Amino acid sequence: MKRIILLGATGSIGRSACDVVRAHPERFKVVALAVRENLAAAALLGREFGAKVYSGETGAVRAVEENDADLVLVATVGLSGLSPTLTALGKGMTVALATKEVLVAAGELVTAAASAAGRPIIPVDSEHSAIFQCLQGPDAARSVSRLILTASGGPFLDAPLDLDGVTPEQALNHPRWNMGPKVTIDSATMMNKGFEIIEAFWLFGLPVERIDVVVHPESIVHSLVEFSDGATLAQLAPPDMRVPIQYAFTWPERLPAARAPLDLVALGALTFRAPDETRFPALRLAKETLRAGRAKLVALSAADEIAVGRFRRGEIRFGDIVRLVADVVERTESRAPVSVEDVLALDREARARAAAWR
Ligand SMILES: NC(=O)c1ccc[n+]([C@@H]2O[C@H](COP(=O)([O-])OP(=O)(O)OC[C@H]3O[C@@H](n4cnc5c(N)ncnc54)[C@H](OP(=O)(O)O)[C@@H]3O)[C@@H](O)[C@H]2O)c1
Repeated sequence: MKRIILLGATGSIGRSACDVVRAHPERFKVVALAVRENLAAAALLGREFGAKVYSGETGAVRAVEENDADLVLVATVGLSGLSPTLTALGKGMTVALATKEVLVAAGELVTAAASAAGRPIIPVDSEHSAIFQCLQGPDAARSVSRLILTASGGPFLDAPLDLDGVTPEQALNHPRWNMGPKVTIDSATMMNKGFEIIEAFWLFGLPVERIDVVVHPESIVHSLVEFSDGATLAQLAPPDMRVPIQYAFTWPERLPAARAPLDLVALGALTFRAPDETRFPALRLAKETLRAGRAKLVALSAADEIAVGRFRRGEIRFGDIVRLVADVVERTESRAPVSVEDVLALDREARARAAAWR
């Protein structure tokens, strides 16, 4: 029986994780769960799973500190996932990581902590889970020549180029995935894919020049790995986050799931095209920031979180999200944060700049 702690249990990923646990009660036991403020839903889950419930800004880290578990699912939003991730690794627990901002802002600290703990970070993001799955097998990681992340392109893939008139409702209307609001808006700007390049850089240790993005609107091929002998492996599945979540919970095993398998004939065709960096400047910004320095990566993530909130409140236009983030990144010094406190200080600084941006 694998004992699991669910951080962000009431969110989109958290609810899918609960489904995975419900489907395999003989294999998984939720011992604790954490949310920020949705106490009513959290209490229901706590009763259902016989799990302890934590809430508030420090709830996630207390859930990890005060409980023993084999695996912690980190599925909160933003940098709130950082301290619980480090605490879990420090206690020798395996981390299944959905909260990509943790790797964007503090990839160096987190991967160092995982190495010190001798534990892999198991990716939950569907693209990184796909790559992780393609890399199973002895020596696979040594012969990789390129990682290819797929991107759905979001709701504005073919919209007229001036996106400044876009409303929050339009940006929240993702054509393929039903996700929480922050990641949905990030998908619409493609900042999400930029973050995923950075996430892949830390998880798989390839330079940014060897991490490519290809637009694949059907969201069936979740990513690909090209090997030095010319072979390319891909992972395909319906766009359903329960697939990568379950794999993260069972790795290196696979468990059956009551899901309809892919029907390739019904799909008929899968399409691919190059991303348009004029339409989606966030992609270039993320790659440039990765090259420019670690402190700027903290700013990238923090400023984006504030910008998305400001766009949703009608304070800035859609195109301003990336303009604001680029400006805050530009004004952030270029150095490597040396501790969690350092990361948190840089995060606060970038948030203040982003909140004041006009
Ligand atoms: N959704 C997807 O399909 C998807 C796919 C790939 C990656 N991700 C990543 O996974 C993460 C979660 O995304 P999501 O879409 O599931 O978000 P979401 O639907 O907004 O849910 C966020 C969850 O985290 C909780 N939370 C937020 N801040 C917290 C804090 N400080 N302490 C404890 N709990 C906190 C929320 O609690 P309350 O309900 O109380 O607010 C909620 O349970 C994000 O980093 C996202 O980029 C998501």
